[in-house]
Parts: sequence; structure tokens; C-alpha cells
Amino acid sequence: VSCSLRPLGPAHRARLEQLTRGAGLFREEEVATALELLDESLAGDDDYRFVGAFDGEQLIGFACWGPTPGTVATSDLYWIVVDRDRQGSGVGSELLEDVEGRLRADGGRLVVVETSSRADYQPTRKFYESRGYDRTATIPGYYAPGDDLVIYTKELTTGQLARATP
Ligand SMILES: CC(C)(COP(=O)(O)OP(=O)(O)OC[C@H]1O[C@@H](n2cnc3c(N)ncnc32)[C@H](O)[C@@H]1OP(=O)(O)O)[C@@H](O)C(=O)NCCC(=O)NCCS
Repeated sequence: VSCSLRPLGPAHRARLEQLTRGAGLFREEEVATALELLDESLAGDDDYRFVGAFDGEQLIGFACWGPTPGTVATSDLYWIVVDRDRQGSGVGSELLEDVEGRLRADGGRLVVVETSSRADYQPTRKFYESRGYDRTATIPGYYAPGDDLVIYTKELTTGQLARATP
């Protein structure tokens, strides 16, 4: 798939909702959160940034990220979603590279992604692992009994800065 990456506007809200729900992984509450973040971003809130992947005029994926409050140049990648029918064809990688490139250009240091230990998130974890993300931490039972929070991180600079002095 060749896709182009562009900013999102208000006209993309309904399609973003459809994509997020259509991923088949997220709870309704999480779908609502994605839309709230888009609304805040469109209202000019710099805490949440979005980029869309398009096939022609059609939105086929998006990423959402923002600076992590209270940190020095750390960012959270809040969402990355690709149309179910087009997963596995490189769109997610293009989105991720775009986000990382923007963060690097902006002096970004560390990217943090939160995901789940559930079996249905296995392809998602593999996606991050084969793109240079380390499985840094786990909080057992965080989401629900047997559903851990898994935190992935990627250092964008020297690989030294994120470490505490021993
Ligand atoms: C995770 C996701 C964003 C990856 O995007 P993508 O366009 O499918 O990924 P790419 O085609 O660039 O890369 C494929 C890689 O991702 C992994 N992957 C994840 N989900 C996949 C899927 N449904 N189909 C095929 N590969 C998938 C594969 O392991 C593959 O790894 P490889 O290149 O080392 O073989 C996308 O599959 C998706 O939207 N998943 C559901 C939502 C989600 O889990 N989002 C992340 C949490 S917010």
C-alpha cells in the first residue's frame, strides 16, 4: 500500500471513530477517549498531536502522541491504529517512523507506549518489538485480573540518557 501522511481535520472525526472501533481491540471507553483527544488537538491543545495515513482521500490509519507531562523530552505514543483490512502492509510502520522523526526533530528523547499483555495484543507487541522498542516494565493485573499493563520504550538519541546513574 502506498499511503500519504497528512494532518487530520474535523472532517476525519467519524472515520477515525470507525477505524478505532473497527480495530476490534478497544473498549468503547477507549474509543471515546481517542475522539476526545482529537477534539482537544483540533481545538489547538498541543498536548495531543495527530497524523493520518491516507489512501487518496480515505483515512486508513492514524497516530496520536504528545509530550509526557513532568518529564524532560519524553513523549507518550497514545494511539496507533491501522484499518483492519490493511494491517501488515507497512502503514503502521510509516506512521511510527513519522512520529519518531518529528519527535527527534523536536529534541525528543524517549518514547513511551502502553499496551496490554492480552493474547489479542500479541501482534501489537511484536510490532513494537521489531521496531526497536524495549519491553521496559509490566504492571501485573493493571487493566483487569490477568490483563497486565506492558510498557514499551524507545530511546531516540544516544541510548544513554534514559538510564539512571547506577
Ligand atoms: C499495530 C498496528 C498499528 C501495526 O500497523 P500495521 O500497518 O499493521 O503494521 P506494519 O504493516 O507496518 O508492520 C507489520 C508488523 O506489525 C505486526 N502486526 C501487528 N498487527 C498486525 C496485523 N494485524 N497484521 C499483520 N501484521 C501485524 C507484525 O508482526 C509485523 O511485524 P514484522 O514486520 O516484523 O513482520 C496495527 O496492526 C493495528 O492497528 N492494530 C490494532 C490496533 C493496535 O493494536 N494499536 C496499538 C495499540 S494503541
